Amino acid sequence: MRKLKFPAGFIWGAATASYQVEGAWNEDGKGENIWDVAVHTSGKIKNGDTDDIACDHYHRFIEDIALMKQLGIKAYRFSISWARIFPSGKGDPNSKGVSFYDKLINTLLDNGIEPVITLFHWDLPVKLQVIGGWESSEVVDAYVDYASFMFRHFGDRVKKWITFNEPIVFTIGFYSEGFFGEKNIRSGFIAARNVIVAHAKAIRAYRSSLHSDGKIGITLDLFSVYPITDSSLDKTAAVIIDGLFNRLFLDPVLKASYPKDIVRILNDLFNLPAIPEEDLLLLKDNKIDFLGVNNYRPHRVHAESHQDLTDVEALLVHEPIEGYQYSEMGWEVFPDGLYDLLIRIDKDYNHPVIYITENGMACKDDIIVDGIVQDDDRLNYLKQYFEAAHRAIKEGVDLRGYFVWSLMDNFEWLEGFSKRFGLLRVDFKTQERSWKKSAYWYQDVIKQNGFTIEK
Ligand code: FCB
Repeated sequence: MRKLKFPAGFIWGAATASYQVEGAWNEDGKGENIWDVAVHTSGKIKNGDTDDIACDHYHRFIEDIALMKQLGIKAYRFSISWARIFPSGKGDPNSKGVSFYDKLINTLLDNGIEPVITLFHWDLPVKLQVIGGWESSEVVDAYVDYASFMFRHFGDRVKKWITFNEPIVFTIGFYSEGFFGEKNIRSGFIAARNVIVAHAKAIRAYRSSLHSDGKIGITLDLFSVYPITDSSLDKTAAVIIDGLFNRLFLDPVLKASYPKDIVRILNDLFNLPAIPEEDLLLLKDNKIDFLGVNNYRPHRVHAESHQDLTDVEALLVHEPIEGYQYSEMGWEVFPDGLYDLLIRIDKDYNHPVIYITENGMACKDDIIVDGIVQDDDRLNYLKQYFEAAHRAIKEGVDLRGYFVWSLMDNFEWLEGFSKRFGLLRVDFKTQERSWKKSAYWYQDVIKQNGFTIEK
């Protein structure tokens, strides 16, 4: 048995995102976002689930904050529904939307919980999608105006800001699936570059705003990448996958540059316009204060000898590997991957301040005893990942906090309500919240600022 203690002031938190929990999709003047349209029309959401009510957090946030307080979390990471603030994405703010977030933030502060805001977690106002989405510089401008409004209005009380959640997903990911428009991966890369510019411009706006005494960063989803054999082809493939998934976003936000090897590959494939020098200068002048890391799993890579090294999907190993553990999402459980990732970021990117902004596990959660979900798998997952984080801190990584995904079960995008990630269980028929075993365990971790581990 070993007792692990975290550094004093370590921020234990929990995370959610507006579209996944709020509901109230058409209330109080909120505009439609791209997900509202998708759930109502695309037929692509599992079981035909719609998210009109979700966890009804919009109406139940007071009760939810009371639960957060009981849990003991120090900070709550949530995102803003842009279309609640600006129903068309720009123009005049919607006072009822603003007032909802005022109440949410004030109630958190009254309960001693720090609000950590993600400005964009994938729910683009539909009016902005119609004019070109993230491919359009008009949308970049609208985002910077929206961010500036947020800093002006909430900056007196909110001291940690995240510009974007996982840019790769809503640019390269959404575009290569064609989920919100034409399937076009080239557009996805252009969108990604625009998002990086929007990110840097938002930082610039923050630093020149009235309340610029807080910290601002970005959240990336990052992976340790492992070749499954020692062959030089597999190793080369792993370098490419690492470049596309990790360095393509880490380099601009932490080094104000783009990875040359990946840019060369992408230019050959898609004939992308050159990156303007002014983008790099903008990034250089507007570095992040902290990096938000979302990590759930590693990537394993295998290149058959005949394979095209740019065919990403073919390089990633999707099939479960015997002897490995997987979550309900089919994601590999591999805590050492988090350790390797943190050490690597620290070494390659000059020791940045890091927060884990998301980590957690989807479980079946179907065994309930005396009202408590027996989610031993999730508890063990968190324990092992926390241990990996602790090891990284001991090695000198400047990790300041950990946000579990998620505070409560919620709408898991294309998976609808079929995947449960919460510390708290939500009955989506009655909206009743109940505790899981992992939540009780987490409550104790927070109280002790550490935990005991068997090995
Ligand atoms: C992340 C998303 C988050 C949630 C988890 C499971 O990629 O940021 O919204 O869906 O995955």
